[in-house]
Amino acid sequence: MPYKVLILVCGIIGYTGNKKASKVVLKGLMTLEYRGYDSAGIVTLDPKIRIQKNVGKINQIDFDMEKLPGNVGIGHTRWATHGGVTKENCHPHISNNGKIAVVHNGIIENYQELRTFLEAKGFVFNTQTDTEVIPNLIEMYMKENDFLDAVKKSIKMLEGSYALAIVCEGLEKVIAVRKDSPLVVGVGDEEFFVASDVPAFIEHTKKVIYLHENDLVIINKKLKIFNLKEDREVERPVHNIDWDMEQAKKGNFEHFMLKEIAEQTESIKKSLRNNTKEIERVSWMINDARKVYLIGCGSSYHACLSASYKFSSLAKKHLDVVLASEFSNYRDLIEQDSLVIAVSQSGETADILEAVKSAKEKGAKVVSIVNVTGSSLTRESDELLMMNSGPEISVLSTKTYTSQLVVLTLLAYATAGRYDEGKAKIKDLINYVYYITSANARDYIRKLSEKIKDSEHIYLIGRGLQYPTALEAALKIKEVSYIHAEGFAGGELKHGAIAMIEKGTPCIVFTSDLTEKEMVGNASELKARGAYIIGIGPRNNDLFDFFIKVMQADEANSICQIIPIQILAYQLALLRGCDPDRPRNLAKSVTVK
Ligand code: M6R
Repeated sequence: MPYKVLILVCGIIGYTGNKKASKVVLKGLMTLEYRGYDSAGIVTLDPKIRIQKNVGKINQIDFDMEKLPGNVGIGHTRWATHGGVTKENCHPHISNNGKIAVVHNGIIENYQELRTFLEAKGFVFNTQTDTEVIPNLIEMYMKENDFLDAVKKSIKMLEGSYALAIVCEGLEKVIAVRKDSPLVVGVGDEEFFVASDVPAFIEHTKKVIYLHENDLVIINKKLKIFNLKEDREVERPVHNIDWDMEQAKKGNFEHFMLKEIAEQTESIKKSLRNNTKEIERVSWMINDARKVYLIGCGSSYHACLSASYKFSSLAKKHLDVVLASEFSNYRDLIEQDSLVIAVSQSGETADILEAVKSAKEKGAKVVSIVNVTGSSLTRESDELLMMNSGPEISVLSTKTYTSQLVVLTLLAYATAGRYDEGKAKIKDLINYVYYITSANARDYIRKLSEKIKDSEHIYLIGRGLQYPTALEAALKIKEVSYIHAEGFAGGELKHGAIAMIEKGTPCIVFTSDLTEKEMVGNASELKARGAYIIGIGPRNNDLFDFFIKVMQADEANSICQIIPIQILAYQLALLRGCDPDRPRNLAKSVTVK
């Protein structure tokens, strides 16, 4: 009985043009590795199908490029949660007759029925993946149809989510199709690309088409797009990307995570620079709505939680903060005059897309705060606020988290009718952000990293705005260093978690002008139980064993207080021998539920 291999995200690419396809595909896969890194594979046509695939990170796989000739190719980098990370399960997957190859990002929910159906027709399965049914369906339909019609008929059979790139031996083209998984087209000079994300081809072209749901594209010498739902050929606009390869490269930094932490002076400026009109419009929507929900997952959820404190203190508004994956529990409360603000770096997170769709079905308005241009969420929204952080490659959200905070803080100020004040307040942070991300500040924080690198647990506490910061900081430490870290509201400690404190347990205490007195009280409770106290805030205190000074920035505190912890998490990862850009079990965007 085959078991389900749950593929949460992967990166795919397809190429047709005059260049050697294997080279283009391999380079593209390297830029997509943040989407998955347990195995990879390439197929090219010469015009016969040539395939190479294996387990391991892309730079560890010894692709023999001589054995991958031709100008048409597809490739895949995979990320699986369970099931075999084996050579057989790597993509591309090939049909029984060896003529059709498929790469897939997403999950085919009805693959077991399809497999049984195909087995009854004599097809044999060699892998445990859901994807293998696709090339075999196409093979079956090609007995009576041409390649395109066979693909269309096969797609009709699929339930679930997919971005697919497909080639057929002897035909110089790639067919690609998307539903609930991202896919973009790069339009070059006599060459075309399809990929899960723009960095895969930005080196070759900055012209991009963002495919819509159920779009199917054929690339060869020309480009043709069909929408399978509308059952007709369609035209999609070509956009120009305003960032370049340099921004998607590591430059002088050892890891993307550090580069992206260090980039925050620039990303915060960029997030501040635009959106004035849109922010004003959204602030009116907030003021007009009967109920406003802020939804997100992971770090984006923490940004929402942080924003709710700002809306409360500045605009005297209560916004309901809900985890996108839990939003269905509130569905019955959504009405036509509800407003849902969806926050997502990628704009492709399945939980958030589903929450937004269900809110729209109930007639609610949707505002999205997104970083990735053209992503699915951008098309589901009545209003869109772009974060403008530039590409974030590291799996961990760092610069995009602070950009989300910038946009949400501006929005809270705008809702209170104090937009200019908010903007000025965030501008005041820029010099501080420059200082705290500098090599000097990083060296200072390294002393702390060395002291606590062998800890089993780290606890983090804050009150008010510093509470969501404590949650986000704990997530950062956990994700990348695998040290157990937990954030609490300062007042909650005595209700249970204090039982965990032993001699030497590191406890990070976030303070601010507003919360200092109570936080020092909490710090002394911890100290009395032997904790090693790390203070982060505007003023040092005798109780602190280590202190990181962070300027007092009122409603903008959350933006500058998280940065030292991003650096700490990065350094802890390095000191513990973990790869900061490839945290185990994680992937950048989680495109299935
Ligand atoms: O792309 P999104 O903002 O929707 O992603 C949400 C989360 O998956 C993401 O923030 C995740 O928690 C990151 N690994 C945090 O570093």
